[in-house]
Amino acid sequence: MSQNKIPGSSGYALIGDKSYDFYKDPVHFCNSRIDSFGSRIFQARLLNKPTVFVCSVKGMKEMLCEKVNIFGASYTSSMCKLFGDVICFAHGEEAQLLRLSLMQLFNHKALETHRDYVNRVCTRNLKDLAQCREPVVIYEMFKRLATELVLGIFLNIDAEESAAFSKQITELSTQHWHGLISTPLNVKVSAWSSGFSQALEAKEKLLNIIDERLKSENEGFISKIKDVPFPESTSAAQHLLLFISALIPKALASLLTSFTIELAGSNKVQVRKRARENESYLDHVLLEVERLWPSFIGGRRVAKQDTTLCGYTVPKGTQVMFIAFAVHRDPEIFAEPDEFQPERWSGRNAGQETLLCCFGNGSRNCIGIGLNNLILKTAVGYLVNNYSWEMDPPTQSLHYKWLPVTRPCEDLKIKFTSCSYKNQCSPSTPDCPVHHQRSV
Ligand code: HEM
Repeated sequence: MSQNKIPGSSGYALIGDKSYDFYKDPVHFCNSRIDSFGSRIFQARLLNKPTVFVCSVKGMKEMLCEKVNIFGASYTSSMCKLFGDVICFAHGEEAQLLRLSLMQLFNHKALETHRDYVNRVCTRNLKDLAQCREPVVIYEMFKRLATELVLGIFLNIDAEESAAFSKQITELSTQHWHGLISTPLNVKVSAWSSGFSQALEAKEKLLNIIDERLKSENEGFISKIKDVPFPESTSAAQHLLLFISALIPKALASLLTSFTIELAGSNKVQVRKRARENESYLDHVLLEVERLWPSFIGGRRVAKQDTTLCGYTVPKGTQVMFIAFAVHRDPEIFAEPDEFQPERWSGRNAGQETLLCCFGNGSRNCIGIGLNNLILKTAVGYLVNNYSWEMDPPTQSLHYKWLPVTRPCEDLKIKFTSCSYKNQCSPSTPDCPVHHQRSV
């Protein structure tokens, strides 16, 4: 084994902890260390544990692919309490078997059964954007859309027919999710209960609703998950609880927001036009959005034995974290890494999408990738085919925050203008591809 020490220091317990600095500004935290150590792998103390930060494509691949059996799942007991026995916390053979079973629900044939529904819901939610009197707060709008899709796909709940029920579940899953970011204390004093205990209550209520629906529904995803050969009778309900977690609509809304921002304004007329006319270019635009603005900061593992990473010694028990935005800006792989260049995916980086980790990587990557792509492509396809858009007001802060998902710190507002590209347009149509009118 190599004896190379990882640059940086894991400091003393408690006083050496750098969690505050990391969570306050993860980009500065990582970039300043990459610069001062001259290394895209370094160590620091996070959540009071020695942690290795992996910011290179090579390190991420080694951690998530070649050494997938050495770097195992690292989750807190509060996460396990909130979600139960689900795939994310499973190891080795058990995880492989679970994934194999679950993947049947997300294969190409299964996804095709959702296409019409996704189309219908995207159209209904996006068709009146140009009629809005006020500019649209896009993150909130996309989150509503994604929440409706998730509840419809996984629980067969129609948000139009059952608006109140849908609202109730959305509120419960938000309360459930807040448990993840609250202190894991299950405390109840008279009428006051801690965020964590409220989250556990929300979990029970959600599980009751899910159980009822498992009994009553005979079609769609919820009927198929009943046939999955899970190890426990409660596993189907627990996985549905995971799939309707509030984090998933947030992650989808994060990418849709970043897409809309990247393509906003009169200087992006040609990009929108190309994306409208050429499907593979639209794919490359989405890849570039995922590269620059991955929804999640990354993922954590723990070394189950003494090992190495990029030649550095990693002792057993060390936490290891891949940092998606930093991996995606590794200059070894991505030239001009901070530039939005969809063309790179048909040029220098053609065929290298497996070097991204927006949806994880390797055999424990996201099982929802196909569904995510269906949703993302349907939504952004609708936008480029029906609208031009710009920031309104034109100057707004583009300062991003990275937690819990990547998005602008302030609610970003966009003015959409109808542009029926498939029909006729007039010289006054903003961004019209025929008249090349610039929007103001
Ligand atoms: C934009 C939306 C989404 C993003 C950005 C995303 C991202 C990710 C990432 C980064 C991982 C790997 C985490 C790690 O390695 O530590 C992951 C795993 C996972 N994702 Fe997603 N995800 C999304 C949507 C979904 C959806 C819709 C589902 C629904 C089924 C889903 C289910 C899962 C599961 C079950 C895992 C764990 C897989 C395992 O442990 O083997 N995700 N996701």
